Amino acid sequence: MGEFPKTVDFMFLNTPIGEEYSLKGLEVEGDIPDDIRGAFFRAVPDPAFPPLFIDDTAISGDGMVSRLWFKEDGSVDFDIRYVQTARHKAEIEAGKALFGRYRNPYTDDPSVKGVDRTVSNTTPIWHGGKLLMAKEDGRAYRVDPITLETVGSYDFGGKLKSETMTAHARVDPETGELFFFGYEADGLASTKVAYCIADKNGELIKEQWFDAPYCGLMHDFVITKNYAVFPVFPTTADLARLKDGGVHWVHEQDRESWIGIMPRYGDVKEMHWIKGPKGVSVFHFMNCFEDDDGRIHLDQHLTETNAFEFIRRPSGIDIPQSEIKGGLVRWSFDPKGDEITETPLGPPGDLCRIRDADQGRPYTVGWYLSMDPEMKGPPMLGGPVGVAFNALIAINPQSGAMKMLGLPPGHAISEPAHIVSSQADHPGWLLFIIDRQTGEDQFEHEAWIVNAGEIQEAPVAKVKIPHRLRPQVHGWWASQETLDKAAA
Ligand SMILES: [Fe+2]
Repeated sequence: MGEFPKTVDFMFLNTPIGEEYSLKGLEVEGDIPDDIRGAFFRAVPDPAFPPLFIDDTAISGDGMVSRLWFKEDGSVDFDIRYVQTARHKAEIEAGKALFGRYRNPYTDDPSVKGVDRTVSNTTPIWHGGKLLMAKEDGRAYRVDPITLETVGSYDFGGKLKSETMTAHARVDPETGELFFFGYEADGLASTKVAYCIADKNGELIKEQWFDAPYCGLMHDFVITKNYAVFPVFPTTADLARLKDGGVHWVHEQDRESWIGIMPRYGDVKEMHWIKGPKGVSVFHFMNCFEDDDGRIHLDQHLTETNAFEFIRRPSGIDIPQSEIKGGLVRWSFDPKGDEITETPLGPPGDLCRIRDADQGRPYTVGWYLSMDPEMKGPPMLGGPVGVAFNALIAINPQSGAMKMLGLPPGHAISEPAHIVSSQADHPGWLLFIIDRQTGEDQFEHEAWIVNAGEIQEAPVAKVKIPHRLRPQVHGWWASQETLDKAAA
């Protein structure tokens, strides 16, 4: 077996761990609020074997499902297991990597032709009593939330026609329905997008397909009370390039972006496309809502080009990570209009979280990760884009008021989960993982709990995780009540 490449995707914080383990009764500093009883599921890419190509990316890694379980008695357990995807099983059997470039099956070992190559490493999605591990290049895998054993590839009981499912689904807080989509729905570099709705019990009740203006990277989408909004940004796929053994994605700086808007329960024939600015890129949407005049406001982490170096490099875009301009911006438009108005809301960042109850509605608080401008010293290397965030921002998108939790040099922070409080008028809690560098290749990890309304104050509790962790992508909180209901 070869070695992992000496690149930031496989070094420092991103050093592969490749180990399944359980830690019981973790040490806690401070007091865990009674509201926090349940499981924080996290999706962690962690390659079991060195990749076939040395320019491989951290987000190619096999998906692991990690769970930080806050038990009824106040104790906390940690578990992490590989998602037993067809790809992972094939490579374990061979004892080496068999799958080639990121999302290019034409670069795979011939022995795995036709094998499902998704790695289920992006988001744990809890809905309808089921835990799904999703990555947008394939269908999700269902995982048992208690044993963390993999049940298998999930197609909604044979109903889902799309070959892909986004890692960013949206749950309506009133109806409990799951809204999701899949792009490249019928194969590589296809413009076909599937738009799907599952009812509150997880039954797939609607699947419609439409064509995007081009095959672009559609990482996220949003719903409002009445609309579904599909953004398309100019990071594009090309079948001929894939067949040539090339990269899946190239960012086209001179190509326009688009947003498609349709009534969320409507027919895809009603989709209305509005042209957006050229060359921009967005991975995550904080929220989207309609105002009293029926105008739609879409809040998003926009950058001037693609945020991933592994995509910029083959695109001939030579901008260092730290110099990419962007910010939290609002795009406002009429659902049948043809113009977008852009309003800056907050500093650059990503990995946002809102209260579940605010999904698709006007809202007064959102949280996201950013860089502390006061930080002295270089940021920590690691995480999906190679440079880790070191600050957490709370923003009121209406007033612009902000609070920040900035961490000292040598610290990194991962996407928070929001947990509601049983006390009326309490803003709830944020739970997130902190990485602290203690030596050239030494790190300590903790889970912090902060008051969601006063994030700049000292954490109310810190849970120590005495084992090396590889950075997560996204997480999902499931309360103990939710877990119990599913078990029953
Ligand atoms: Fe994402």
